Amino acid sequence: MTTQFTITRPDDWHLHLRDGDALNTTVAFTAQQFQRAIVMPNLAQPIINAELALAYRQRILNSTPDGSNFQPLMVVYLTDNTSPDDIKQASKSEHIVAAKLYPAGATTNSSNGVTDIDRLAPVLEAMQSHGLLLLVHAEVTDSDVDIFDREQVFIDKHLYAIRRDFPKLRIVLEHATTQQAIQFVEENDNTAATLTPQHLLFNRNDLLAGGIRPHNYCLPILKRETHRKTLIKAATSGSPKFFLGTDSAPHATHAKESLCGCAGCFTAHAAIELYAEIFETENALDKLEGFSSFYGADFYGLPRNNSTITLIKKQWQAPSYYSFGEQTLTPFRQETPLNWEIQR
Ligand code: DOR
Ligand code: ZN
Repeated sequence: MTTQFTITRPDDWHLHLRDGDALNTTVAFTAQQFQRAIVMPNLAQPIINAELALAYRQRILNSTPDGSNFQPLMVVYLTDNTSPDDIKQASKSEHIVAAKLYPAGATTNSSNGVTDIDRLAPVLEAMQSHGLLLLVHAEVTDSDVDIFDREQVFIDKHLYAIRRDFPKLRIVLEHATTQQAIQFVEENDNTAATLTPQHLLFNRNDLLAGGIRPHNYCLPILKRETHRKTLIKAATSGSPKFFLGTDSAPHATHAKESLCGCAGCFTAHAAIELYAEIFETENALDKLEGFSSFYGADFYGLPRNNSTITLIKKQWQAPSYYSFGEQTLTPFRQETPLNWEIQR
């Protein structure tokens, strides 16, 4: 039985750090595990251009603990008003590597997102030619589409067309949750997906059966077990198209345990430990390093990291909550001890 192993230091290819005081909590959790992270731009005032992205990057660096050389990688938030010139300007900075497509209204702070994807063509053209990746929140927002079907409908309605029209554009289907998403990624070149701990560990029963569990609520919503099994297979397959992206998305405890609770699971306190548990259950610990530390960097065209981390088989219990400025933050999967611990 493996009780300890060492891997190249991983990167988180999908992360929410928030802004202001929250950075004092969030950045340290991620910096203690990951070398780099793709930082999502869906702040209350979204990061819609290079200038805002670079200023936000500086605020994150200012909150990075002493001695850490954590590197935030920045993303521009696409709106109906994004221009090809915005893309060109963003691509000039080595710190900005992608743009994020949020369909307007799909999730947290997405009201400034894109309302008409068909009108995005000149922007996508510019991204393709300047080498900026397209990161997609792949869900339609139509109120008549069932929440459990929103990902597959988005893929059918929009993603195949974008893929066909911009064949060289590198696309990451973020937080894939369905068999249809996995199939789309497998079928197409220049296409990858991130997979979150919550979608690999849990199905929709863990959200809704026997009582509603708001800390397991995220978007896209947890799906049925057959989809989870497909995601597990993709993650542990050794395919370079699937890599780690936690989608760690902190919301204060009271905002999740509420009449209308926010979507997002906070996993950064134990991210690599959660993935280690998933891969161990599948007898695939030997595939964890590729998924966590190689394939994302390769897809983004960035160098792999040089340093390492060591994981030790040891049970530990996350606290019921962490302090989060004046508020608290409830960690994901808090109720069960974790089986792996990062060596510090
Ligand atoms: O669950 C989610 N939370 N999904 C998202 O797409 C956004 C995120 C957030 O920012 O809270
Ligand atoms: Zn996200």
